[in-house]
Amino acid sequence: MDEFVTLTYRGKEVKLPLVTGSEGEKAIDISRLRAETGLITLDPGYANTGSCLSAITFMDGEKGILRYRGIPVEQLAEKASFKETAYLLINGRLPNRDELTQLSVRLNDHSLVHTDLKAFYQNFPRASHPMGILSSMVNAMKSFYPELDTLEEEINITVTRLLAKVRTMAAMSYKISRGHEIVLPRPDLTYCENFLNMMFDTPVTPYEIKREAVNALRVFWILHADHEQNCSTSSVRMVGSARVNLYTAISTGIAALWGPLHGGANQAVIEMLDNIHNNGGDCTKIIQRAKDKNDPFRLMGFGHRVYKTYDPRAKIMKKMCDNLLAAIQITDPLLDTAKELEEMTLKDPYFIDHNLYPNIDFYSGIILRAIGIPTNMFTVMFAIGRLPGWIAQWKESMDDPNWKISRPRQIYTGHQQYDYVPIHAR
Ligand code: CMC
Repeated sequence: MDEFVTLTYRGKEVKLPLVTGSEGEKAIDISRLRAETGLITLDPGYANTGSCLSAITFMDGEKGILRYRGIPVEQLAEKASFKETAYLLINGRLPNRDELTQLSVRLNDHSLVHTDLKAFYQNFPRASHPMGILSSMVNAMKSFYPELDTLEEEINITVTRLLAKVRTMAAMSYKISRGHEIVLPRPDLTYCENFLNMMFDTPVTPYEIKREAVNALRVFWILHADHEQNCSTSSVRMVGSARVNLYTAISTGIAALWGPLHGGANQAVIEMLDNIHNNGGDCTKIIQRAKDKNDPFRLMGFGHRVYKTYDPRAKIMKKMCDNLLAAIQITDPLLDTAKELEEMTLKDPYFIDHNLYPNIDFYSGIILRAIGIPTNMFTVMFAIGRLPGWIAQWKESMDDPNWKISRPRQIYTGHQQYDYVPIHAR
């Protein structure tokens, strides 16, 4: 039975239809609101606004649930490969054996990067942040691979290129930043192994691929692969809605992800933990700062727009920190600092009342450190993981029969009309 919400405005009743999702979530469809009443809605930060219908990712922020195409992220983290997860997100179902082999072959075929792109890298100042470089380079890919982006096969090639080359480009940027020779991808290695090898192999110290490191990276990327309409994904959709090419839309997503309130938080967390550790390890002061209304400081790696309970991804990350560090026999004092900080916040009324729990970024940096990733590459690691999600969301929006260019409205609060004053009279 169709459900409606009735809005009464200036004596007129307007029936607004309710839309129900497959998990029972409900939304008021206000697409006729302005036409019927002259009103718009105002929702800063879009906290109550659904921007699309989507069949990709389901999150329940109250219960701490996250599923890709219906499959719990816990199951994927335990059993799937990152490639399978990417296929699942982009194509809507798990691949069969042939499809997975085909994907591997295509990723291998497209994993090299045009050598002219190397020159671009060398012209960035040495201290450039890798996220800025990656965003520019992905945008530049359009000039090197100028397909039309319209035919399905061309889109498939662009998607494969992105999945294959962004990983190579990320490792290249690290090598160039260190003044080292670039290591090329190898056909005999898996997606995760190849990345680690491109990052860490050198002619004088061949990289020994450790099973534990590969597994940690696999889980890290799977957990980052999609998170419905977050800031970077919404940016990809919004920019994509102008029918810009996929490279540019992804480059926009990377730019948005760089922000410390979004993907940049993984770098900020380690810097914060390092700071606590170097100053004697006492977490009290930083907790006080985070609670101080007059201080804009926030505890990095805590809080989430949707999760009002423990982030399910953070649970997996935390467990993995312990397992990984034990397996590769290293200790990281920042893990102890992180656990102490978490323990104190979980008992603190401010954090309890505000529903602030560790998010994915709180423990992920410790995993990345353990496998040797430098801190300024952390957000790049997030970006590689999020790539399948951005692509899936972009594809879904392009195929949407109700597609429209994204164009929010506003309530104007500036001056009312007044006349231009010539400069001599001001
Ligand atoms: N530390 C201290 N107080 C916080 C924090 C925090 N990390 N996060 C939220 N609050 C407080 C905030 O001050 C506000 O308090 P009050 O209502 O008393 O004024 C209340 O909680 C609600 O905050 P909000 O800014 O309205 O919440 P939001 O949903 O807009 O923001 C967030 C979500 C993730 C931006 C925010 O929690 C935050 O800044 N966290 C730190 C950065 C971080 O870890 N980001 C990674 C997010 S997960 C990965 C990703 O999505 O990229």
